[in-house]
Amino acid sequence: MPVATLVNGRLSMNKGIYLLALLVAPVLADASGGAASANSAPPDVAQGRQIYEQYCTACHGWQAEGAANWQKLDEKGEMPPPPHDETGHTWRHSDAMLFRMIAEGWRYPFNKSDRLTMPAFGESLTDQEIAAVVEYLKTLWTEEQREYQATESQ
Ligand code: HEC
Repeated sequence: MPVATLVNGRLSMNKGIYLLALLVAPVLADASGGAASANSAPPDVAQGRQIYEQYCTACHGWQAEGAANWQKLDEKGEMPPPPHDETGHTWRHSDAMLFRMIAEGWRYPFNKSDRLTMPAFGESLTDQEIAAVVEYLKTLWTEEQREYQATESQ
């Protein structure tokens, strides 16, 4: 039975095709397996860990311990890389804020330099990869910190 008659016996053929396209488009997008479905896939912690090890350890450390004296401006007048584990303050930021800091980079507003001391990764990582690395960081926090951060993210 043609879709047009299913929906409304008096629908024109054009409308029928339009409706059919609406029904079929999501299926096609899903089957393409490309960026579209990768972006809608849930963030993957194991993948996030790999990305962390490849891109973040140089500054934030293999145990996400951050730099020594990370709470004070260094000799250049810049904030050193903070830890991402429960001793730091990464867990205080919402998902949206963490995403932005990683994608667009970040600097402590009172640094004596203007450069982004936290580099922008929006060019080298996909949105899905950034979401995955954020998901990995969440595994480094306490249960209370995770709950706080989840509330902040709503
Ligand atoms: C070149 C060194 C460097 C690299 C590489 C780097 N960061 Fe950073 N990051 C920093 C510095 C420095 C800061 C602190 C910026 C400030 O507050 O002035 C920072 C801050 C952050 C913050 C904010 C944390 C908070 O508690 O406010 C997040 C989140 C973060 N980095 C995530 C990442 C992730 C994820 C990666 C890897 C994809 C990464 N960083 C790679 C240097 C780096």
